[in-house]
Amino acid sequence: MPKSLIIYYSRKGQNYFSGSIRSIPKGNTEYVAEYIASAVGGDLFEVATVKEYPSDYTECTDVAKKELGLKARPELKRYLDSLDGYDTVFVCGPCWWGTYPMAVFSQLERLDWNGKRVFAVMTHEGSGMGSSERDLKDVCKGAVLGGSLAISGGQAQSSKERVAGWARSSLE
Ligand SMILES: Cc1cc2nc3c(=O)[nH]c(=O)nc-3n(C[C@H](O)[C@H](O)[C@H](O)COP(=O)(O)O)c2cc1C
Repeated sequence: MPKSLIIYYSRKGQNYFSGSIRSIPKGNTEYVAEYIASAVGGDLFEVATVKEYPSDYTECTDVAKKELGLKARPELKRYLDSLDGYDTVFVCGPCWWGTYPMAVFSQLERLDWNGKRVFAVMTHEGSGMGSSERDLKDVCKGAVLGGSLAISGGQAQSSKERVAGWARSSLE
């Protein structure tokens, strides 16, 4: 099996689930990223910002909207310098205003994507993949974009079999 890396961002705290706001100790996308990693035996890399996003849902959507408008590249606690040794990268994130959080691009833009295979994975509350595949294509220059997976955030935790099956078949 090719060697895989799973890059993900996921936010704990308040989130929106089918019409109501709930606080969660572990983000939806983190479940999905972990299911992929265990299914394909890959390494996980968590994108973590120096300045944390507000736990309050509405405040976070405001901050995220501003960042999107500015094409901000928030500073991260740590960066991955190279994709050497990896054939395949799964980029997992929540849908924020139709694409990945800007912090994900802070990491992606630093890497050399030539010859890599990339899969887009997104958890969402209705927007599906949004523009994430197109945005990945723009940023991951030289990579081949494989399939993608959209999972409804509220179903992320209970989607282990579906996610694992998709991840394994992606690499065949
Ligand atoms: C700042 C922010 C913006 C969001 N924008 C969208 C959106 O445009 N479309 C959508 O379907 N869901 C949107 N959501 C919902 C999240 O994509 C969804 O709850 C996701 O599963 C959260 O993943 P996480 O727990 O890993 O952070 C947004 C949530 C937040 C916090």
